[in-house]
Amino acid sequence: MTRRLAADDAGIAEAVQILRAGGLVAFPTETVYGLGAVATDDGAVAVLLCALGRPSVNPLIVHVQDAATAARWAELSEHAQAVAGAFWPGPLTLVLPARAGSGLSARVTAGLPSVALRVPAHPLAQALLQAVDAPLAAPSANPSGRISPTTADHVLAGLGGRIAAALDGGACAVGVESTILDLTGPPRVLRAGGVGAAALAKALGQPVAQGVAAPQPERPTAPGQFDRHYAPKARLRLGASAAGEGEVWLGFGDGLQTWSLSPEGDLAEAAARLYATLHALDAAGIAAVAVAPIPDRGLGRAINDRLARAATLEAG
Ligand code: TXA
Ligand code: MG
Repeated sequence: MTRRLAADDAGIAEAVQILRAGGLVAFPTETVYGLGAVATDDGAVAVLLCALGRPSVNPLIVHVQDAATAARWAELSEHAQAVAGAFWPGPLTLVLPARAGSGLSARVTAGLPSVALRVPAHPLAQALLQAVDAPLAAPSANPSGRISPTTADHVLAGLGGRIAAALDGGACAVGVESTILDLTGPPRVLRAGGVGAAALAKALGQPVAQGVAAPQPERPTAPGQFDRHYAPKARLRLGASAAGEGEVWLGFGDGLQTWSLSPEGDLAEAAARLYATLHALDAAGIAAVAVAPIPDRGLGRAINDRLARAATLEAG
């Protein structure tokens, strides 16, 4: 059985023991819950991929407690240090040249010469990383192809029985996955998230490209090509003006509704509620949803990205 661990010293100590023995522990970050394994433990990472049913071509994000620790696993250029200084800890992942021979499991990088690193701000994630004193590979804690979890209940519903434990830190504040910024070439946002491209460009002092240039099925440098993590069972119709026959209305900025991402039209609230709402629509057995338009700016960009995936992908 999967144990639910409390967000206290005893819970963290238990999580550390499990991780050091090669086990899997889900933990909260400010974006979504991650499923952690020690990133230098090849066997643990293999078990992690298996527990999620995740294709081994899709590399994992390595979580560390600070930028100094990140520098043990990747080369941080001056530019990388500038963005890290501005946004870590926080909802930003940096793709950087991996340090050769650092000891990271090759399964973490899927054989790429780069590595994705993140310093989460959530106090429980920080406490865990400091206590375990090892880098943690942690993809979102959902079976491959399903909605990312923003509560421990979501984690247990999807992975109960397949992982040793989940640290329960309540609901995640940001609600959508971290922004992924690739700094191995000209700066490019590979996945929209909590940190916007404009803010990144400002910290870098240079423009930042957005989006993956073209589908490149053989190259896992294009997150999203393999990352079918956002599919609910319900069929979603986006940018709708009203609910059609047999559809449930999912509102935004149009006042109190039975289902709404944010009655007041607050993008941060909508992001925080997005996955929980998709989980709840599934739990309610709803088959078709008409989704109100979401402004495509700031966090709205990340929300629209996830909704577009949820609308087009079959649940796996
Ligand atoms: O907010 C988040 O980022 C959450 C929390 C748990 O930290 N994690 C998360 O991980 O969303 P995951 O595995 O579900 O998504 C990781 C994404 C994948 O799309 C993967 O392709 C990309 O990161 N990625 C990892 N390493 C990469 C690399 N070296 N180059 C390009 N993309 C990479
Ligand atoms: Mg994911």
